[in-house]
Amino acid sequence: MIELRGVSKTVLSGSRPLTILQPTDLTVASGQFLSIVGPSGSGKSTLLGLIAGLDTPSSGEIVIDGVDITDLDEDGLARLRGAKIGFVFQFFHLIPALTAFENVLVPLEIAGEARAGEKAAVLLRDVGLTDRGHHYPSQLSGGEQQRIAIARALANDPPILLADEPTGNLDSANGRHVVDLLLDVNRSRGTTVVMVTHDAELTARCDAVLTMRDGRTTAAAVGQP
Ligand SMILES: Nc1ncnc2c1ncn2[C@@H]1O[C@H](COP(=O)(O)OP(=O)(O)O)[C@@H](O)[C@H]1O
Ligand SMILES: [Mg+2]
Repeated sequence: MIELRGVSKTVLSGSRPLTILQPTDLTVASGQFLSIVGPSGSGKSTLLGLIAGLDTPSSGEIVIDGVDITDLDEDGLARLRGAKIGFVFQFFHLIPALTAFENVLVPLEIAGEARAGEKAAVLLRDVGLTDRGHHYPSQLSGGEQQRIAIARALANDPPILLADEPTGNLDSANGRHVVDLLLDVNRSRGTTVVMVTHDAELTARCDAVLTMRDGRTTAAAVGQP
């Protein structure tokens, strides 16, 4: 469960304070698939970065599975991210010098997973790319790279997956494929998913849609089942 209470973010723009996220309350129940939509610059990435503990709020509390992450220091935040949160980015951020298989293997080895190789192979299978494991990112399509990035994000079986415009760099067919995969992850593993997207069409099958504008959220609407 993700709970935000009065969470805001103010940054300095030149010498003037600029509030890029107005005080926000939000609850995402475990196992929910929430989409966040809104125009560029409306604060979507800011909100996601705060939930991920990549950034600290100017006010308010962020509670992840009962832990107030605004109380944690850098080490505590890093541990929480490692245990609880997978992150997927618009531009994939795969390591170019490593194969697809190795990209998925890295977080498993860092976590000291005893059967890292076997787990990486299962993850590649789960995203439908068993036969692409030996390819380098540059040899894969955008959609394939994003599926590898999703496999990597799932390596340590996080209960929460955050995705910032995961389809933003893909054509519509590949974008749908990636959203299908995220929905499948949500249903089959029970992973809580929060996905930022530009594309309102992709939100139709989510549990709820949150719209942002000018650093404010509107009430979450329940999507079509
Ligand atoms: N560190 C920062 N300093 C100043 N302005 C920022 C900073 N981070 C984000 N912004 C501004 O805050 C607004 C919201 O940004 P962002 O959350 O990235 O929006 P979105 O993801 O919806 O496009 C934008 O106008 C952006 O330029
Ligand atoms: Mg953004």
